Amino acid sequence: MFILKSSIGNYVSINDKRYSYFAGNNYLGLANHPVLKEEAISSIEKYGISFSASRNTTGTSELHLELEKHLSEFKNKNDSVVFASGYMGNKILLHILQEQYSALFIDESAHPSILDGIPPDVSNVYFYNHCNYEHLESLLKKNNKHKSLIITDGVFALTGEIAPLDKIYPLVKKHSAILIVDDAHATGILGENGRGTPEHFQLDGAENIYQAETMSKALGAYGGFISSTRETIKKIREKSPVYIGSTSLPPPVVSAGCSSVKILMQYPELRSRLFENANYVRDKIKKMGFLTTSDNTPIIPLFFNSQEKAVKLSEFLNENSFIVPYINYPVKMDKFLVRLTVSATHTKDQIEKLSELLKKWRDKHEIS
Ligand SMILES: Cc1ncc(COP(=O)(O)O)c(C=O)c1O
Repeated sequence: MFILKSSIGNYVSINDKRYSYFAGNNYLGLANHPVLKEEAISSIEKYGISFSASRNTTGTSELHLELEKHLSEFKNKNDSVVFASGYMGNKILLHILQEQYSALFIDESAHPSILDGIPPDVSNVYFYNHCNYEHLESLLKKNNKHKSLIITDGVFALTGEIAPLDKIYPLVKKHSAILIVDDAHATGILGENGRGTPEHFQLDGAENIYQAETMSKALGAYGGFISSTRETIKKIREKSPVYIGSTSLPPPVVSAGCSSVKILMQYPELRSRLFENANYVRDKIKKMGFLTTSDNTPIIPLFFNSQEKAVKLSEFLNENSFIVPYINYPVKMDKFLVRLTVSATHTKDQIEKLSELLKKWRDKHEIS
């Protein structure tokens, strides 16, 4: 296990050694941004560490309202709600939309927060083959007496694949279904304005699409959020046990979130820089012959048939002062993987050094 002794950035300190860091989800480098830190510190000075109460009792502050306003502006939606963690977003949506569906259709490699979010009294649950919209369609047809809700990750956490919403959304329309997209890894990244996977497919604002989002990855802060119509957000505030029954987000985190959203809107070049780096790395990795995915995201997996090989590669990089972790995560996968993530702040020099090491390893090992 890696025990961090520093903040996360291009480099980290682990057990008193400095490593080049190609891990985690700090895609835009905001987690350690001076403005976020400053805002978080002054927030602690003014409000302390916690409001120690639920949003629905005495835990709502002016800060929460300000953050929700910024998020609505960023997402171009009427209203937004923030809550304890991104993990809870799928559960919240699956709960408050429950009157509108009687069957769930889930990508078989969905994130555990989706599976955990299935309400206990929903028994019609169907898993479609990973990203396979044809299989999804056949399941929808076979079960057409139900009101259907489809749920998928927007960008898959381990593989960086983008769910084919361009193919899935026509099925949503055809079958009068609802679509939930867990956009934890797409918020701030995909789409012209960084609004996520629907925007990437020109579906921003399309009917019957809901997104569960987080501030803990590209936004470099913490906490889940949902942006939607006033009616949906009102329903969450009034009816979601997760929202009502948990303590409001801590002041420094909320202030950092506010700064982060503003930076995201003000500096689209952060995203351009990220994609430039991600493309460059993915290209190199493909040319070296490693098996990876092709979608244009900052998550670049290196796939292996044997766990030992994946672990060995990660250890080799580690011995050479790079953190690129072997990932063992509760998601259905038929391969073993080393998960390499790229940030907007990585330097060409860092990337070249990493490439040299990967080449060196490839020259001595079979890479299947
Ligand atoms: C696809 C996906 N959904 C949800 C989450 C949970 O988000 P958070 O860590 O902000 O609670 C994660 C984080 O690991 C994720 O990868």
